[in-house]
Amino acid sequence: MKFDTPAGINPIDQERVVGQPHTRIEGPLKVTGRATYAYEYHDVGPNVAYGVMRGAGIAKGRITAIDVREAEAAPGVLLVMTYQNVPKQAASGRGAVPQLQGPEIKHFDQSVAFVVAETFEQARAAANLVRIDYAQAKGAFELAQVKDQGKPVADAPDVRKGDFAGAFAKAEFKVDETYTTPDESHAMMEPQASIALWEGDRLTVRTSHQIVHWATRGIAATLQIPEANVRVLTPYVGGGFGSKLFLYSDPILAALAARELGRPVKVALTRPQIFNHTSHRPATIQRVRLAANSDGKLTAVGHMTWSGNLPDAGSENASEQTKLMYGGENRLIETRLSVLDLPRGAAMRAPGEAVGLLALESAVDELAEKIGMDPVAFRIANDVQYDPSVGPSRPFSTRMLVECLRTGAEKFGWDQRNPKPAQVRDGDWLVGIGVASALRNNLMMPSGARVRMGSDGILIVETQMTDIGTGSYTVLAAVGAEMLGLPIERVQVRLGDSDFPRSAGSGGSWGANSASAGLYYACENLRAALAQKAGFNTAEVTFEGGNIVAGGRSVPLGEAAGPDGVVAEGDVTFGDLDKKYAQAGFGAHFIEAGVNIHTGEVRVRRALSVCAAGRIINPIAARSQCLGGVTMGIGAALMEECVVDKRFGYFVNHDLAEYHVPVHADIPDIDVIFLDELDDKSSPIKAKGVGELGICGVGGAVANAVYNACGVRVREFPITLDKIL
Ligand code: MOS
Repeated sequence: MKFDTPAGINPIDQERVVGQPHTRIEGPLKVTGRATYAYEYHDVGPNVAYGVMRGAGIAKGRITAIDVREAEAAPGVLLVMTYQNVPKQAASGRGAVPQLQGPEIKHFDQSVAFVVAETFEQARAAANLVRIDYAQAKGAFELAQVKDQGKPVADAPDVRKGDFAGAFAKAEFKVDETYTTPDESHAMMEPQASIALWEGDRLTVRTSHQIVHWATRGIAATLQIPEANVRVLTPYVGGGFGSKLFLYSDPILAALAARELGRPVKVALTRPQIFNHTSHRPATIQRVRLAANSDGKLTAVGHMTWSGNLPDAGSENASEQTKLMYGGENRLIETRLSVLDLPRGAAMRAPGEAVGLLALESAVDELAEKIGMDPVAFRIANDVQYDPSVGPSRPFSTRMLVECLRTGAEKFGWDQRNPKPAQVRDGDWLVGIGVASALRNNLMMPSGARVRMGSDGILIVETQMTDIGTGSYTVLAAVGAEMLGLPIERVQVRLGDSDFPRSAGSGGSWGANSASAGLYYACENLRAALAQKAGFNTAEVTFEGGNIVAGGRSVPLGEAAGPDGVVAEGDVTFGDLDKKYAQAGFGAHFIEAGVNIHTGEVRVRRALSVCAAGRIINPIAARSQCLGGVTMGIGAALMEECVVDKRFGYFVNHDLAEYHVPVHADIPDIDVIFLDELDDKSSPIKAKGVGELGICGVGGAVANAVYNACGVRVREFPITLDKIL
């Protein structure tokens, strides 16, 4: 079904199940270790072999010699693959990710050898026995050095509106500051891992992936086999954050070796390989220029972002939120991408907005201070209910930024803030509070589902949708239950199998709304089929208490389904409502931070997020998403950073001991408030993305709180103590 008109009143609006708090259906499986992750399947046969990937030891250059004799002779070794004997793969196209494509080396830890043995230990030992000699070439590893060669970016076109230069030059108050954000790693718990098994020419890959049909397509394209011959299973995913949107070496090498050996092969990437072999969020340099007059209205809005990546890879679009966030007639918003020879950069935890808002929301505070205006009041004064880079012809579907700011300010005690920095002392700590606005574009993606009502009155939902720790199982169970008038316990949800109908998958915060919308239409078709089978006029029925009800007659669903059950499918595609309306989730984050007067250490003491993201399908899951988002936002502000070795072009800190993410001791109690909102332009569910919205802006609020606490403005993220002292 094409969703191209605003949703009217529908069964979801009843909110008997949707909108109510539900604990996670698969939670008990996960906390008791019975949810099986990709590497953990023991039902693929006794003869499973173990593969270990060896990555390149240089960032750029060529393999000059490769000697596998010692590795091949090592105990238990079944196969050693290098570029010299790897089976043919597609070079590119349709998501193909060919492996062992030597002798040319394009980035550090690119796959150069794959060793398969009877045991993991044997494979690991033998992988180290492959002798590889390299000729190193000079590479570009520093964004600052290549940024001026940056090219425009197709998916982040420039905005030029009015006369930015003129307005900026003559404004009364202005900031022109440059902010930097580092390379960052996804740091999900479960590494990329795959088990490949061939039965004839049919391949089954148990893997860990966010979007099943992207995985199926990429594996089939790489191996040059029909997509229909590839089955991907990913029922549980131990964290994604963008790291599992794309394919890396594990499914490909496992599949190639399994075919060669006639045995199932499993491979997991190591934590260091996650940093240098897979992908990361690219560093940015961002110049923000904002100008306003003494009435506190922005007159010029400028944001330019530079990032770098491998020649075939994309940009960190950190200027995008600035197109939409605040008014201002004269606008210049640009994104540039240069070539770097570091490991591949790709989407990570609110790509673009998460780091773009670090810069924008810092700059907004800097300008508010110059004008002498309260930062909350300044943001409210520049709210705009339409896309300011286009004009009033493109209104927001819904936009409750002002309500988020007002609610948050009241609940957080914003009126207690001393606008003058470094005035509040608590023992050895200087204490400040800060605010930032949040915006995350609301994306919608086609999605489908299959539903079955059995004679037992149980609804079974099947879709390729994934649950990457976000609560998809529970969200879809709630939607199915609402549509069929069932309690949530009477719904079984099956996910992450390419044999099920194609789904939006989990990415870009589009998953819950898009997958639920696909399920909504599948359930509509099932309702019609059941009503018809039970002899009802389909236009008149309601579904409640496990029955179909109309005209004083009530038939239990199981009875209506009959002994064979009734199956229906449905899907959603999205029309152009997202072109007619700007669509985004909004929020306001409030942070209280302490800065130690002796060490410069920053501790976040209080955090509050107020979000407006359409209908909240499951308040418990949505709150958890925001708790995680705020935690990641604090990490981005204070800790997370891949340190580049500028001589050799790799990330030096490549484990979770040296790449710091917040731990429990770093995170205070976090409050989350969702405002009541329905977005009828987003889908029949009237929901918007939540997960990534929770991250966006948080780090800006931390930076502003640190400034308010101690009077030091750090523009080079993360804000570590050396930059404060
Ligand atoms: Mo997200 S970075 O689109 O998983």
